Amino acid sequence: MSTIKISNGLDIPVIGFGTWQLTENVEAVIAEALKVGYRHIDTAAIYKNETEIGNALQHTDVDRSSIFLTSKVWNTDRGYDNTLAAFEKSLERLQTDYLDLYLIHWPANNKNHPDAKEINVATWRAMQTLYKSGKVKAIGLSNFLKHHVEDILETAEIKPMVNQLEFHPGYLQEDTVSFCKANNIVVQAWSPLGSGRLLDDSFLKEISARYNVSVATLCLQFALQEGLVVLPKSVNPKNIDSNLNFEKFKISDEDMRLIKGMSEKGFSGSHPDSLEF
Ligand code: A2P
Repeated sequence: MSTIKISNGLDIPVIGFGTWQLTENVEAVIAEALKVGYRHIDTAAIYKNETEIGNALQHTDVDRSSIFLTSKVWNTDRGYDNTLAAFEKSLERLQTDYLDLYLIHWPANNKNHPDAKEINVATWRAMQTLYKSGKVKAIGLSNFLKHHVEDILETAEIKPMVNQLEFHPGYLQEDTVSFCKANNIVVQAWSPLGSGRLLDDSFLKEISARYNVSVATLCLQFALQEGLVVLPKSVNPKNIDSNLNFEKFKISDEDMRLIKGMSEKGFSGSHPDSLEF
């Protein structure tokens, strides 16, 4: 399993199993993912599947120590005390005594919070406390645009190690991704397949045919070649397997350039500065 090193020296498996919108047969799906070799599972309090994921972790033969487990604090739990409490509840549901990575799910934004920066900084202080306590091996952000990350870096004693963003061909968030790379923050891609919205794109089909791979595989390799961690999700055993165990190949520089040049496509519509929470 390939891994990427984050700023504190911890290795993250570069392909993780995304679980957003996974609310049915969760335990069986996670068992399947573990069976085919995933060792990185990404969840969040708001996904409402932590308990079932915890059950799957209880029932698997795979050792907890070889699984990289991520969760996220939801928007209604921002702030110092609430974040500490939310973390404990996630641990309970996941039936584990530590997390590998804990993220702030979305930044508070100025549209809804005049004191957005103070809220985000207070939430980050709680993340630092959790990290120092040893209950979480790495801490980071999710959906933080460059300016939100800058707000955190101004006063951070411990810098964020990860930022999880929507990233796929047609939605590259270049400003934020290059800022994170320059600051040694590993970027994780959520919706690396554009939540399925890219899979019938004729341009991507044409490129993927050159490598004899599916558009899904092309999208994953594209993000990996850009140095990101990918979090594809699927409930289909064939796709669960192929998203992890595809044959190694390299997209040519020219094709990387062509993919990067695509106009916007597949955007989820969720923009951190305009969401109503
Ligand atoms: P399914 O569960 O039937 O596999 P994303 O990870 O970008 O959010 O995309 C998830 C969507 O893409 C789901 O609808 C999932 O459907 C589909 N999907 C995931 N992997 C593949 C694949 N290898 N081939 C085709 N569709 C896929």
